[in-house]
Amino acid sequence: MPLLPLCPTTDIADGEGKRVDSPEGAFAVFNLGGEFFVLDNTCTHGPGNLGDGYVENEEVECDFHQGRFSIRTGAATAAPCIDPVRVWDVVIQDGHICIDPKAGHYAV
Ligand code: FES
Repeated sequence: MPLLPLCPTTDIADGEGKRVDSPEGAFAVFNLGGEFFVLDNTCTHGPGNLGDGYVENEEVECDFHQGRFSIRTGAATAAPCIDPVRVWDVVIQDGHICIDPKAGHYAV
């Protein structure tokens, strides 16, 4: 499966996230100390956008009801979120954050 490039690594500062819309759907991309992580953009609790959420302590706070998820594992870490969010293994290719769009999985 060809990799799907989401955005250049330089688009996301350390400790921040970004929503990226692609032909394969919307993803939330994060930079934690120069390590990049990709989650489904849509919160498992409702219509919130995780890519637009607030990043703190390696967690993202949903912009809709302020539930939280671990950016590393996708685990729900604060109510009202209960179900984990899907995560994607990241490959950096030519300075771009890429994923295999068929290989999303639940790490927890
Ligand atoms: Fe994300 Fe409710 S939609 S916490």
